[in-house]
Amino acid sequence: MSVKLAVVYYSTYGTNYQMASIAAEAAQAAGAQVRLLKVPETVPAAIVDGQPAWKAQAQATAHIPTVTVDDMDWANAYLICAPTRFGGMASQMRAFIDTLGGFWAKGGLANKAVSAMTSAQNAHGGQESTLLTFYYTAMHWGGIIVAPGFTDAAIYKTGGNPYGYSHTQGQEFGEEARASISHQARRLVEVAQKLTASA
Ligand SMILES: Cc1cc2nc3c(=O)[nH]c(=O)nc-3n(C[C@H](O)[C@H](O)[C@H](O)COP(=O)(O)O)c2cc1C
Repeated sequence: MSVKLAVVYYSTYGTNYQMASIAAEAAQAAGAQVRLLKVPETVPAAIVDGQPAWKAQAQATAHIPTVTVDDMDWANAYLICAPTRFGGMASQMRAFIDTLGGFWAKGGLANKAVSAMTSAQNAHGGQESTLLTFYYTAMHWGGIIVAPGFTDAAIYKTGGNPYGYSHTQGQEFGEEARASISHQARRLVEVAQKLTASA
């Protein structure tokens, strides 16, 4: 197995952290080398500290390494995971992506398998638009988009989003959510393995 997967996430309140952690575990179990990485917080510390739930999440994940361009270079597959903000991906993730221009220009992001997950307060609050607009970015990278489609029964049981797992706030991370996230992670690893085998 030659898959090196970077699971890159942003999470204010912990939802996407949980999703990314479940995916990382499943990818590792599928044989990939996995790095679970968070993007830098861009909001001033005074604002984070002013919201107890935000502050608690930042403290609880202080041990998770912050993603660097070197991680993006190391990886041959990416799983991007961040919440919906007004129908698009959280600006913290966008800000990190905006640091990748030089690496992108060298072709560093090209020909790698890419998949994405998100969460939102509402089932129709922008889950699909968040994933689809992120995939536009992945196309600019020359990424090979690996959406889950309807390739497993688990997807039907968690809202039926073929673009990527998306979590609606208030749902539990029960067996069905875990199965859907794990399927997406395994599928990404399987496709990445095929790409690296033919490279
Ligand atoms: C500034 C802001 C904008 C948001 N915009 C949306 C939105 O457009 N639609 C929606 O359903 N939820 C929206 N939410 C809710 C977030 O998507 C929700 O807090 C997030 O999925 C939680 O993920 P996390 O626990 O990983 O931070 C918004 C939240 C914030 C703080």
